[in-house]
Amino acid sequence: MSDVPLNTPAEISPEAVQAAVDGALAAIAAATDTAELKAARSAHTAEGSPLAALNARMREVAPEKKAEFGKLVGQARGRVNQALAAREEELAAAETAAKLAAEYVDITALAPRARVGARHPISLLQEQIADIFVGMGWEIAEGPELEHEWFNFDALNFDVDHPARQMQDTFFVDPTSRHLVMRTHTSPVQVRSMLERDLPLYVLCPGRVYRTDEFDATHLPVFTQFEGIVVDKGITMAHLKGTLDHAAKVLFGPEAKTRFRANFFPFTEPSAELDLWHPTFTGGARWIEWGGCGMINPNVLRAAGIDPEEYSGFAFGMGIERTLMFRSDVQDMRDMAEGDVRFSEQFGMVV
Ligand code: DAH
Repeated sequence: MSDVPLNTPAEISPEAVQAAVDGALAAIAAATDTAELKAARSAHTAEGSPLAALNARMREVAPEKKAEFGKLVGQARGRVNQALAAREEELAAAETAAKLAAEYVDITALAPRARVGARHPISLLQEQIADIFVGMGWEIAEGPELEHEWFNFDALNFDVDHPARQMQDTFFVDPTSRHLVMRTHTSPVQVRSMLERDLPLYVLCPGRVYRTDEFDATHLPVFTQFEGIVVDKGITMAHLKGTLDHAAKVLFGPEAKTRFRANFFPFTEPSAELDLWHPTFTGGARWIEWGGCGMINPNVLRAAGIDPEEYSGFAFGMGIERTLMFRSDVQDMRDMAEGDVRFSEQFGMVV
């Protein structure tokens, strides 16, 4: 008896029928999933529901009213069943869509994978060059990229009116009265090393340098050099040549060698243009201009407080981008500056 709804109408009337229909439609609309709809269906259409009760009462209706009430109850049941069917379809569709969304697998998507990137070939080559010298017992030094003009030029024996100082070559930093420049070469580290370190001195300084150069296939306004400095007793040009030949062989193979051509640098005397015999050059073995070198000018030793009568030394400087270019056959220097990981990946992890 408890499953007879409390609102079971006592007799058939249009109001009672309407109330039963309203109750059913409200419950159907309120159902949010097929399980709730099933409950609404049994509460409002199954045995014991107001509509079923009304239907059962048809027996008691007077014969002349039977047709009218029969129609009323029949239509009511029709409307409720229709609403049930419509809601059922709606809920089933929503449930299917939700399930599909939850189980969605995009078989065309790339597997999520973290890009690990690649070391830049300039960093790799720089480390490899540093290793050659560390292997000979040298130290690695660094110097500031924002440098005082005195270290970048004066202490290196540049005249006050040396063309390299001009605005068209050097980035001067405002206010110019402070005499700060973006270093134009790694040579100021020669002076810094001589001032800061004990003798004898065997130092390699790789690092970034700045010049007001065009950005084109063979020039970058920011590039990398490595500078070698040795100060010891009895150092001669033969030591310089032997050191550079060794570095050339490690980097370019056992047939590689170097040659000197007379040149001028304010900070070395004598000075030489340094050429490299590149045995595996892509266009065939050949001599390539590699950098500059020489015996440290006595004026430079003096500027660092070293007695040139007692000590002598050599220095050299080369560009790493240029070295990478002819070592790994890179056609355009701009590729080294643009930061496209595909360029770095091309070299793997070894230059
Ligand atoms: N500093 C020079 C440059 O950037 C290269 C150089 C030449 C360095 C001769 C040296 C050297 O140490 O002895 O063009």
